[in-house]
Amino acid sequence: VAALRLPGEPGADRPAEIDIQVRPGHRRRGLGRRLLAAAAEGLRADRRTSVIAQVHAGTPAVPFLESHGFECVLVLRGMVLRLDEVPPERIARLVAAGPAGYRLIRWQGVVPDEHATALAHAKHAMADLAEYEGAPWDAHRVRETAEVVAKRGDDLYTVAALDASGAVVAGFTEIVVPHDAAGRAAQYDTAVAPEHRGRRLGIWVKAAMLEWLAAERPEVREIETDNLGDNEHMLAVNEELGFRVERESLEYQAPVSVLP
Ligand SMILES: CC(C)(COP(=O)(O)OP(=O)(O)OC[C@H]1O[C@@H](n2cnc3c(N)ncnc32)[C@H](O)[C@@H]1OP(=O)(O)O)[C@@H](O)C(=O)NCCC(=O)NCCS
Repeated sequence: VAALRLPGEPGADRPAEIDIQVRPGHRRRGLGRRLLAAAAEGLRADRRTSVIAQVHAGTPAVPFLESHGFECVLVLRGMVLRLDEVPPERIARLVAAGPAGYRLIRWQGVVPDEHATALAHAKHAMADLAEYEGAPWDAHRVRETAEVVAKRGDDLYTVAALDASGAVVAGFTEIVVPHDAAGRAAQYDTAVAPEHRGRRLGIWVKAAMLEWLAAERPEVREIETDNLGDNEHMLAVNEELGFRVERESLEYQAPVSVLP
């Protein structure tokens, strides 16, 4: 099976995403290559110029993609936090230790209108990813992303820190509880705007999220997250909260022009 995700409008600058699966007993017979060629037709029909694939380090996907013109553009460290290993007092202390001059807000699902533009600005703070996705964040895209999650039947939770003016989202964190979660939730974006960094806002919003989830979704036992391998600050925040490395994922990208 080859699956394509084509975010945004046809011909959008954003890269498409591909996932190819061949049953173990049928590998190394050229099926993967044929599926990739068929998917490439779809990409061209949609006027996409580039495509990405997310795979695990050390699997056959790596030589497969590399032999078809894909290059590794990101290393993501998959980490997991087991919530029963995090003492509630520690979370409560972190929440109480929030920096002066900021206040927390939270919402489920699509961002309230009054914060949509401010949240889009904060999303720019994810500079590395923004560059790589190549599309600017605005209020429309922020809403669209949340609506996609809702349409899948999953629940999106956001905690944000507003600055003293109340008009700026200085930092935020997002968690998605899939409808078929089986106890595992997924960390989505977390970011602190550059001018607000170094004040422990990142750990503050994440700790507040853990407290909220414990009350709201007690069935969630674990949270998984992917961090950029070179994102030292985020890794430090996650390690302080108790996240442990579970696996390494690689993001591969290719121009559609080199595909078979
Ligand atoms: C990755 C995957 C799709 C490859 O499917 P496949 O049908 O075995 O691939 P092909 O037979 O078309 O292989 C084409 C070329 O890729 C390379 N390749 C594929 N698997 C490889 C392996 N295990 N080791 C080394 N090279 C490999 C080879 O160059 C191969 O050509 P060759 O057989 O003539 O040497 C398959 O292993 C799979 O389903 N893996 C699990 C799912 C996955 O990780 N998908 C992510 C990919 S987007």
